[in-house]
Amino acid sequence: MPPAGHLLVTGGAGFIGSAFVRDVLGRRDGTRITVLDKLTYAGNESNLAAVAADPEQLARYRFVRGDIADPAVVGPLVADAGAVINFAAESHVDRSILDPEAFLVTGVIGVHVLLEACRREAGRAARGERAAAPRLVQVSTDEVYGSIAEGAAREGDPLAPRSPYAAAKAAGEQLARSYHVTYGLDVVITRGSNTYGPYQHPEKLIPLFLTNALDDQPLPMYGDGLQRRDWLYVSDHAGAVEHVLRHGVAGEVYNIPGAAELPNREVIRILLERLGKPWSLVREVEDRPGHDRRYAMDGARIRELGWRNRTPFEVGIAATVDWFRANEAWWRAARSGDWDAYYERQYGARLATSLEA
Ligand code: NAD
Ligand code: DAU
Repeated sequence: MPPAGHLLVTGGAGFIGSAFVRDVLGRRDGTRITVLDKLTYAGNESNLAAVAADPEQLARYRFVRGDIADPAVVGPLVADAGAVINFAAESHVDRSILDPEAFLVTGVIGVHVLLEACRREAGRAARGERAAAPRLVQVSTDEVYGSIAEGAAREGDPLAPRSPYAAAKAAGEQLARSYHVTYGLDVVITRGSNTYGPYQHPEKLIPLFLTNALDDQPLPMYGDGLQRRDWLYVSDHAGAVEHVLRHGVAGEVYNIPGAAELPNREVIRILLERLGKPWSLVREVEDRPGHDRRYAMDGARIRELGWRNRTPFEVGIAATVDWFRANEAWWRAARSGDWDAYYERQYGARLATSLEA
């Protein structure tokens, strides 16, 4: 697909989706983007304020508030787009354990609605009513592989999701793949690693611990803190998704590994060191049920496609800490609405029975 064109970016007001939109529009290569976002508690139109403030980018950008599970909204937007990049999802594992339903509605029905709209457009292309069928990039996750005791998961490995979030993501990508096999739809799937960086909602490990530490509040570390994640900087994740959009082979899956596999304790130590805050803030709390011990993926396939991870963890974490320090109003606003009720439900009893870490 050529760089210029019209992209429909669903979930484009969230953490990774907004990075994708800012990066693509900021390149000024003529690409137009329509963002479709429901603006759940995790979505924030102000994540795209830089786009709205720049007349050249604004002319190539449109924002639509709506649900990917609503065919009446999705149909006309897909009809008007050359490709769909689906970032929209409920994305927090802990919330999926508390209340799974929304994860299924967006992650399964929402993906189905997008696929049906693409199928209709593929039919129109076949009848010569539009230039080409739309490509759908389904943004998925390493969590679909489940916990990886040793080695690194490859794209052909069996899926073994272990949380409602991961199960919904696995269902969504399997559905997408089935539309490629059954209807010949142009679908590509990415499986990204744990992502971090500016604009990440403070419910996730790095921004939660960073913002709690800035307020000298306790940091609730689940279990022994020796769970391992492979950290991927947000602009690298967004760039990899775009690379797969432009160069990926229809029907393929691409792992997007991170740049640093680290135990949570080490991530927390690095964060506290950068912030100049003491380890005594860390509390060992009751573990997440079904907590995946380790994620790790093999990145040979996306490297063969020409993509490289550019941001070492030390560089990314320094930029992240600086951004959160400089954008206190942003993260305080994200910690509003249902935040206090969620925090109490997730951490109240855990912190009351916590231990020194
Ligand atoms: P996020 O929670 O920050 O953003 C999700 C966005 O989707 C929000 O703007 C939200 O309003 C929107 N949304 C939710 N339901 C919607 C619906 N029904 N219709 C339209 N919009 C809806 O999530 P994120 O961390 O940016 O993740 C983006 C995607 O990347 C997700 O699909 C996630 O599963 C995947 N992913 C995330 C990571 C990570 O570490 N954050 C890693 C791998 C894959
Ligand atoms: O691996 C990709 C996935 O990474 C994405 O698909 C998800 O959308 C994203 O949320 C993330 O999932 P994780 O569960 O790995 O990320 P989270 O930030 O919630 O947790 C990272 C690790 O930190 C995990 O081992 C749990 C631990 N943790 C997390 C929180 C929020 C804690 O110890 N305490 C906490 O309070």
